[in-house]
Amino acid sequence: MRTTAKIDELDIYVWEGKADIVDRVARCMASFDVEVIRADDIAISPERTALRPSLAIISVSVIDSGALILRDWQAAHGMPVVWVGAAPRDHDPAMYPSEYSHILPLDFTCAELRGMVTKLVLQIRAHTAQTLESSALVANSECMQALLHEVDTFADCDTSVLVHGETGVGKERIAQLLHEKHRRYGQGPFVPVNCGAIPDGLFESLFFGHSKGSFTGAVVAHKGYFEQADGGTLFLDEIGDLPLYQQVKLLRVLEDSAVTRIGSATPIKLDFRLVAATNKHLPQLVKDGTFRADLYYRLAVIELKIPSLEERGAVDKIAIFKAFIASVVGQERLETLPDIPYWLADAVADTYFPGNVRELRNLAERIGVTVRQIGAWDAARLQRLLALARSNQPVPAESAAEVLVDRSKWDMAERSRVLAALDANGWRRQDTAGTLGISRKVLWEKMRKYQIFDEEPETRESE
Ligand SMILES: Nc1ncnc2c1ncn2[C@@H]1O[C@H](COP(=O)(O)OP(=O)(O)OP(=O)(O)O)[C@@H](O)[C@H]1O
Ligand SMILES: [Mg+2]
Repeated sequence: MRTTAKIDELDIYVWEGKADIVDRVARCMASFDVEVIRADDIAISPERTALRPSLAIISVSVIDSGALILRDWQAAHGMPVVWVGAAPRDHDPAMYPSEYSHILPLDFTCAELRGMVTKLVLQIRAHTAQTLESSALVANSECMQALLHEVDTFADCDTSVLVHGETGVGKERIAQLLHEKHRRYGQGPFVPVNCGAIPDGLFESLFFGHSKGSFTGAVVAHKGYFEQADGGTLFLDEIGDLPLYQQVKLLRVLEDSAVTRIGSATPIKLDFRLVAATNKHLPQLVKDGTFRADLYYRLAVIELKIPSLEERGAVDKIAIFKAFIASVVGQERLETLPDIPYWLADAVADTYFPGNVRELRNLAERIGVTVRQIGAWDAARLQRLLALARSNQPVPAESAAEVLVDRSKWDMAERSRVLAALDANGWRRQDTAGTLGISRKVLWEKMRKYQIFDEEPETRESE
């Protein structure tokens, strides 16, 4: 007997010969809003082997062919398996990598099971997040190409750079790129600091460090952020959130290129490059008197503005979406699936993401996990995820005009795509719809929307 449980789109499989354990697992997971589906043995329902669980719970009494399939998945995808009873000692240990095998006693309690599942789910999520973080920087739009050109131009300068842009546009990614591309500092450390999260009273200790015994509890000497960044890049994120008194101290260090640890009298000479980022309009903060003008000029020797996702348009939205989908689903798995359907790419291009790349990434992650598990671009399930992403997302008035401009560019591109597909298929609707991955009805609607008609209207197929 097999049971599928669902936790926020993560499927958990339970294998067990005796209903007893399955029922106990289902009962324990009830508070996780678990959906339980009973199915036949995976070995005798091959169409279900397309499913790839994120986590499996197997009773050791059932080391059968189903468990062997799981073992292959485990090896291929690093899927964690919880063995109930004991580890499969009798089997080749090399087949069951221990870092992915977890053991629960036969008389497990609900607290034990929930604790283990929660820990594993968090691990799976962290792994996915890491994969996404290491995915390539996508920059297909003209404005992003122009930005990368600027990055190349300025990467090797020693002066400070101020990166600004809306939330989630990739300011930190660009800061990292500036760091990596610098001939000298790129060899040193990259030290990111979130200036919006410095607890009151800890600024000096965190930034300047302290010498041993400088205050109660300072049992060892500690290097501050400035010193940690020596020879590399100090990345000051959310610089607009730094209080005025801390701005003064920062400015002094930048001017002297030296720090003095708390409890010490000896200044330490430092050589680092400063990259700062903000989603605030610093000149306005200067006018309001909450940001020092001298610090602003010191930081913004070079200014880079990262375009929002709406400014980048459909070309980047779709490319970023595809890149994230590929890293979540896995290239090997993706190749077994048809191309990303046209309606899905279309819907992504049509969605406004106020949280920019980060928000698009979250949507792609949810869609990718679903597609990986069900092994198909299931329209009904994916539409639900899209609808969720679109709910509570009003288009703010100031960007509505930009969105319209992008829409018309996107429409033009789509019209050309439809026309090209029609030409390539000798204007046969059925074949054209197939090429575009849409139904004949949707193709007809698009032709009407873009005023595309056959040369001879009387030969038009009736839809
Ligand atoms: N061009 C890109 N291609 C691929 N991934 C990107 C791109 N830009 C950003 N990302 C990803 O989007 C997420 C957000 O990027 P990042 O943290 O750099 O944004 P940010 O502007 O610093 O956000 P915040 O304003 O919240 O600090 C990260 O996961 C990052 O890897
Ligand atoms: Mg950031």
